[in-house]
Amino acid sequence: MPDTKKVVLITGASSGLGRACAAHLVSKGFTVFGTSRQPAEMPAGVQPIALDVTNDVSVEQAVTAVLAKAPRIDVLVNNAGMGVAGSLEETTIEEAKRQFEVNFFGAMRLCQQIIPVMRGQGNGRIVNISSLAGTIGLPFQALYSASKFALEGLSEALRLELEPFNIQVIVVQPGDFRTRFTASRRVVAAAQHSPVYGPRFATALQRYVSEENNGADPQLVAELLHRIILARSPRLSYRVGAWSQRFLVGLRPFLPDKLLIRLLASYYNL
Ligand SMILES: NC(=O)c1ccc[n+]([C@@H]2O[C@H](COP(=O)([O-])OP(=O)(O)OC[C@H]3O[C@@H](n4cnc5c(N)ncnc54)[C@H](OP(=O)(O)O)[C@@H]3O)[C@@H](O)[C@H]2O)c1
Repeated sequence: MPDTKKVVLITGASSGLGRACAAHLVSKGFTVFGTSRQPAEMPAGVQPIALDVTNDVSVEQAVTAVLAKAPRIDVLVNNAGMGVAGSLEETTIEEAKRQFEVNFFGAMRLCQQIIPVMRGQGNGRIVNISSLAGTIGLPFQALYSASKFALEGLSEALRLELEPFNIQVIVVQPGDFRTRFTASRRVVAAAQHSPVYGPRFATALQRYVSEENNGADPQLVAELLHRIILARSPRLSYRVGAWSQRFLVGLRPFLPDKLLIRLLASYYNL
């Protein structure tokens, strides 16, 4: 099948990385379905699908809606996500579960619905949007990092499980990008006036916000996704974003733990 006839489903295509990916693939001639909780917000040419990734029924209905319009789903991009920030000590279990419901179980729900479709058609690609924070635990974003580490583990295991079915699983690890992610971040309730972590949390959060506001252009991720879809034999993982951030993560296996912790503490002014 020519690549441009492929059907791509992108979750969280109303904004940021997902929106850029959806618009770019449409411009390359792909059939693109984009999801949102408010599907009216899709870029031109992207077929809107209503989806809340935290809801089982919504996921089933979204996949049914795509299959009513397209004969197959060649590429699933699990992109929908959000960030929870605050000290681990002050994060409630409910707040932590919310983080995992969107970033981890959301992707799992989509995989469970779409793997049978891909097995039936004899091929497919699942691209999970992780983060560089899924390779290094970030202070005051412990639950966000944990959700992305979990997604990394899921992806690595799933790649092997699906190998006999000609379905490849790929992880994309973005650094900081300018998107609505910063505005949508949820600060845990107890962190708003924390007597213990207040100043350090505020300093770290300020740093995250500034890095994201000055982050890379989402178009970079869109172009990478296009290359991944076209690749004959895609790798398990791809880093994308500022060179300095990718470099630090690349150095990680060679750095003594003490040095890594000192570098991170100084980077986030902790
Ligand atoms: N921006 C960065 O610096 C950065 C860095 C590394 C990784 N990432 C990852 O990139 C992915 C995209 O984030 P972004 O930066 O593009 O943020 P964004 O601009 O806030 O976009 C997030 C998307 O996720 C969707 N979404 C959020 N909660 C959802 C839910 N419960 N059900 C369905 N869709 C939901 C939103 O759709 P609606 O609100 O319209 O439903 C929106 O389209 C996330 O997985 C994020 O963790 C971002």
